[in-house]
Amino acid sequence: MNSNPAYSNSNGYYAQPPQHQRQHHHHQGMNRVRRGPRGRSRDGHGSDIRVSEATKQPEGAPCTDFDMAYFHSYAHVGIHEEMIKDRVRTETYRAAIMQHQSCIAGKVVVDVGCGTGILSIFCAQAGAKRVYAVDASDIAVQANEVVKANNLSDTIIVLHGRVEDVDIDEEVDVIISEWMGYMLLYESMLGSVITARDRWLKPGGLILPSNATLYIAPITHADRYSESIDFWRNVYGIDMSAMLPLAKQCAFEEPCVETIVGENVLTWPHVVKHVDCHKISLHELESVTTSYKFKSMMRAPLHGFAFWFDVEFNGRAIALTNNHAPSQLPNNHTVEGQQRRKRANPSDALVLSTAPEDPPTHWQQTVLYFYDPIEVEQDQLIEGSVTLSQSKENRRFMNIHLEYASGGRSFVKESVMR
Ligand SMILES: C[S@@+](CC[C@H](N)C(=O)[O-])C[C@H]1O[C@@H](n2cnc3c(N)ncnc32)[C@H](O)[C@@H]1O
Repeated sequence: MNSNPAYSNSNGYYAQPPQHQRQHHHHQGMNRVRRGPRGRSRDGHGSDIRVSEATKQPEGAPCTDFDMAYFHSYAHVGIHEEMIKDRVRTETYRAAIMQHQSCIAGKVVVDVGCGTGILSIFCAQAGAKRVYAVDASDIAVQANEVVKANNLSDTIIVLHGRVEDVDIDEEVDVIISEWMGYMLLYESMLGSVITARDRWLKPGGLILPSNATLYIAPITHADRYSESIDFWRNVYGIDMSAMLPLAKQCAFEEPCVETIVGENVLTWPHVVKHVDCHKISLHELESVTTSYKFKSMMRAPLHGFAFWFDVEFNGRAIALTNNHAPSQLPNNHTVEGQQRRKRANPSDALVLSTAPEDPPTHWQQTVLYFYDPIEVEQDQLIEGSVTLSQSKENRRFMNIHLEYASGGRSFVKESVMR
């Protein structure tokens, strides 16, 4: 076991990079790398980039070794290439920025986690007066070069540091950020958007995306199970069933990031968490629990549960948010903790969806598989609860506690998204 705190944890597993590993079919055992001192540009680059020295107390969570490793993983080109090549993601953000042009033109924007600077540039193209492009990763050096090469240095100010540490000496009209991790909350980057909101956003300011929803649904996936597990029953004519317990553990102990399709899903999804970016608090993100009750729409082996999310870019949500407490929002009490069929009115706002029935994205879906499938009949109830909580040891990791009962039997599955 590695004694380096940025790598190891109490179970002896190793940290994973976040988004750039998203295309890996079975999301296990990837290492993150540690980085050097925070907020330093590399020699010879970006001499005019503004580097945060964090001389005062940070506004949000203190920067840990895990955070440094996290930012270091974002210094690799591959992660940005993957995100930018995800056209569903990038084009939806661009469309949302253009759709909200009237709120952006002539206004001050902060891009929380600017990466290569692409969203900041979209905002400049939409007519922003000034954009603060903040990133703690060394990718900020390249962002600054990209900004200069596009003659946007008068508009876009690249700040190399954490949003918790950098100083911006004015209030901003708009916050833009692509903060979503696997199953929405992995990576815990939303906390940094909340910190930016509470530090700089003007009352009535715009946050894009404005809200987000995480879903869970029971799934059947016989091909996947057979490819990883049943395979061992007959290997070149040899009975290797003795491998089954190990195969189940290795394949299904941790959540799997992979693509499923609508046919895998046994019934309508249930809303685990609805996030109103204007209202959500840091404390609310520490632990999320919901109880669910599904009725299977078909007779099939139940192999596990899938999670996915969508985010909405809804400038009009600001008016609602400013005038109502969250519990009074029109659909809040009907959304969270209940099964939701489809958005009541999909044309209401631009939506970036990672649902199995929608075009695939680099987030894919996240699946929790059982070690053994459970046969369910049509209309059979599947009920239980799920709790997602930030790991105490590394808040970028997520503990998942899943309880489920069907046909008179009940189970518990504990896993960690690392
Ligand atoms: C998912 S990437 C998005 C990059 C870019 N906005 C895009 O859409 O291509 C998130 C970026 O946010 C940065 N980031 C995450 N938390 C941050 C924080 N607290 N302060 C500054 N940057 C942060 C990461 O280093 C990473 O580059």
